Amino acid sequence: MSVRPRPTTAELAGQPPAGAPNQIGADGTQRLKSWADYRSEFPVFKDATYLNSCSLGALGTPVRRAIERCLDLWSSMGASAWYGPWWEELGALRGSAARLLGAGGEDVALFPSITAALSAVGSAFDYRQRPRVVIADIDFPTVSYQWLAKRPRGVEVVFVHSPDGLTVPLEAFERAIDERTQLVATSHVYFQSGAIQDAAALARLAHARGALLLLDAYQSAGQLPLDVRAAGVDFLVTGGLKWLLGGPGIAFLYARPEVRAALRPEVVGWFAHRNQFAFDITHLEYADDTRRFEGGTPAIAAVFAGRAGLEYVHEITPARLRARQVELASALVEALRGAGLSPRLAGTVQAHAGIITVPVPDPPAAVQALARERVIIDSRPGVVRFSPYFYNTVEDIDRAVAALRRYVR
Ligand SMILES: Cc1ncc(COP(=O)(O)O)c(C=O)c1O
Repeated sequence: MSVRPRPTTAELAGQPPAGAPNQIGADGTQRLKSWADYRSEFPVFKDATYLNSCSLGALGTPVRRAIERCLDLWSSMGASAWYGPWWEELGALRGSAARLLGAGGEDVALFPSITAALSAVGSAFDYRQRPRVVIADIDFPTVSYQWLAKRPRGVEVVFVHSPDGLTVPLEAFERAIDERTQLVATSHVYFQSGAIQDAAALARLAHARGALLLLDAYQSAGQLPLDVRAAGVDFLVTGGLKWLLGGPGIAFLYARPEVRAALRPEVVGWFAHRNQFAFDITHLEYADDTRRFEGGTPAIAAVFAGRAGLEYVHEITPARLRARQVELASALVEALRGAGLSPRLAGTVQAHAGIITVPVPDPPAAVQALARERVIIDSRPGVVRFSPYFYNTVEDIDRAVAALRRYVR
């Protein structure tokens, strides 16, 4: 397996994202923001080595300010905030998330969690002709729970086995999808391994058998470029918590216009109504756009935070974030190997997003041992997970790997 040459600290810490429109001029001069400029906006780095963005993206100062702006509006306007700036924020966030995915604002709906978005989608199908939902056995459990809970109604969950616990060969999906498959619901990036799946190939396999593809992009959106239209994805769920830097309480559902038009979710609320302020209690008329899947009043502070977090991704761009992630992941793999540890890779570093796992004895104890040194990572069964993002440096990586080495010894 090939690892790219280790980037110098200067390259990682100081290199501006070439050509990015992110100019700052506090001292009167205009210049591009460097990676170090970005890092300085994340207070966690004042006293911690934070390498756990796959659990929770770090809190940036602009995100905190956005929440404060929301609170200021609440404080000064009361309920009138809903009829102006808060309402506008909902539309702006749908538009911002859609832009990230290569979709239109009308194609995206807002939810408080991935689970809520999946519940709405899962409630919209007639499973009689096509009772099967195909899921990888290394997907995040909340994905399968939607459909396992529907087993008493005849829904069948078909698990595709991952032979190595890292990834799933496309041929295994191909074998599992048949003319009784309603939906393939799987990850763009697997949460336990960081391995990337080929979204366009999965869509082709699903469509060839008349099934639909739902992509769980919680571990990919932001750090990987993705165009839902080009890839032919039917549904996509993602959210602010991790790589989109908006914190908990905000998730997004993309639904392809041609597919959603025929769907009438049973898990539904008044935000799904075509004209919700008509307060027509006797008729449920679904909105034409993806809002037809929405539920009730959103947690508005999370909406403000979600949009501010997304601004980082738009400003830097997913293409540059991806390049940065490959550099950081390569440096991490090299450092781990240099320390005599064995990162688990599905082929090359390029096959991974910014999540690298390492088997160690008693991973939760390892996480605690590193936390005592103010190195923040997390664990999953059998492994610890490192998840660097653009604000990390080679020094972070070296410090974390040295701490893990001390633990293992
Ligand atoms: C890939 C993936 N999907 C779904 C979830 C859970 O989403 P939620 O808690 O918003 O339902 C997680 C959480 O870590 C995840 O990593």
